[in-house]
Amino acid sequence: MEYVIEMLNIRKEFPGIVANDDVSVRLIKGEIHALLGENGAGKSTLMSVLFGMYRPEKGIIKKNGIEINIKDPNEANRQGIGMVHQHFKLVENFTALQNIILGVEDTKNGVLLMDDARTKVVELSEKYGLMIKPDELIENMTVGMQQRVEILKMLYRENEILIFDEPTAVLTPQEIDELMSIMRKLVKEDKSIIFITHKLNEIKEVADRCTVLRKGKGIGTVDVETTTKEEMSEMMVGRKIDLKIDKALTKPGKIIFEVENLSVISKWSKKKVVNNVSLKVRQGEIVCIAGIDGNGQSDLVYALTGIGPHLGGKITLNGEDITDSSIRHRNKAGMAHIPEDRHKYGLILDYKLSKNLVLKKYFEEGFQKNKVINYSNVKEYSDKLIEKYDVRTGQGSNTLTRSMSGGNQQKAILAREIEENPEILIAVQPTRGLDVGAIEYIHKQLVKQRDAGRAILLISLELDEVMNLSDKILVIYEGEIVAALNPEETNIKELGLYMAGSKRSEVVS
Ligand SMILES: Nc1ncnc2c1ncn2[C@@H]1O[C@H](COP(=O)(O)OP(=O)(O)O)[C@@H](O)[C@H]1O
Ligand SMILES: [Mg+2]
Repeated sequence: MEYVIEMLNIRKEFPGIVANDDVSVRLIKGEIHALLGENGAGKSTLMSVLFGMYRPEKGIIKKNGIEINIKDPNEANRQGIGMVHQHFKLVENFTALQNIILGVEDTKNGVLLMDDARTKVVELSEKYGLMIKPDELIENMTVGMQQRVEILKMLYRENEILIFDEPTAVLTPQEIDELMSIMRKLVKEDKSIIFITHKLNEIKEVADRCTVLRKGKGIGTVDVETTTKEEMSEMMVGRKIDLKIDKALTKPGKIIFEVENLSVISKWSKKKVVNNVSLKVRQGEIVCIAGIDGNGQSDLVYALTGIGPHLGGKITLNGEDITDSSIRHRNKAGMAHIPEDRHKYGLILDYKLSKNLVLKKYFEEGFQKNKVINYSNVKEYSDKLIEKYDVRTGQGSNTLTRSMSGGNQQKAILAREIEENPEILIAVQPTRGLDVGAIEYIHKQLVKQRDAGRAILLISLELDEVMNLSDKILVIYEGEIVAALNPEETNIKELGLYMAGSKRSEVVS
């Protein structure tokens, strides 16, 4: 087999961690090669080695069978290797064209040859269907268009080996489809692509082969056509994972939580960021608010949970008007909250785990007497939760919360909130940034709570999560609920149209 790139036995260490441990990847010319692995598996590090940003401690890189030495990104570029980073590296107040030629400007007698550059950019944009306007400022573009500028940058430099680091994480479903078709056009023109992702659907759809990393080690390379998603996820996680959540149909009970015509005004722009939102959540159902990040979800949740202000409307919990109640009162009335930002609103990182687990009850009888905390009771309670929710830590109740992994921090929040036996659980992006194992656990817990008759309001950006978990989907767009959908009767495509604001339904409840 002829390989355009071979990375062989690569080892890259950071202080205290081996990010790549004897990893090999071989890229065939003209293929889309997926690099799959959980958060922290070492994918970005490996590609940064290929792009010349890190020097490996061990291992070699070959191009077309000949060993090369990539000492920096300029050298990578000369070797035809380009990379679209997870966080784009564009100059916001420059145009597309200015960004594309940055660093490789052609000049004649000290004058920029912009016309030639412009012609080339327009030609490339047309050839690959990128639809870039050369004179548009980056800051005025959608994230999807900015990504295309990054792609054009690589094409302009005539890169042949294109690395995409989690390119779909920031895109809408429609933009993802378009990116996939751009990638297909690129390999048709004999480019070779390394595509980093942790989404198995995307790999199945577009990739030819897939190399799996786990905890810094290369687990293997498989042919995508003949390998199932289950097999790939098992390679990624190291054990069998239920990708499909078992969820029986249930009959929702009475209305527990009701929001009527709630609006919120932005602190910064004085614009309505939540506009007349109404919704109901019943016992035993998961109602999901789906939407692209930044469409008012955070301010809506702040108003619902009492963290932030509102501009009128009504919030009722179990018949009680809690629109202006304190946070503690809401908690006592049966509201639990898994916040979007677990570090800012979910935990006190410099507290021991045991203290975090009693944050909502340390003032109750049993945990304090005459305002003196009974630490042995706190520890006993905390030990019980750690066991019950399988929170893995170094020193149990005494572990400093900051030192725990994201997945275990999230389990601790879940444990604290669920143990309160809430009437309504408001879960905001509960699996953000977690690995597959932790995601599976959190999803199962949410369904279990639903089956136990709790009302759950889920706010999520992950479409798979929305489709798998919800009994009812509300789509939020620019602060308004623009659709109420039944997950059995809709699909990701339709959901995407609503999320992007290009579709809107009349019947909304
Ligand atoms: N510059 C760095 N300094 C120290 N540790 C790092 C650095 N970059 C990555 N790591 C660590 O190396 C491991 C692999 O990270 P990364 O390659 O970013 O994983 P992935 O892209 O698969 O999520 C992680 O444990 C991460 O914390
Ligand atoms: Mg990464």
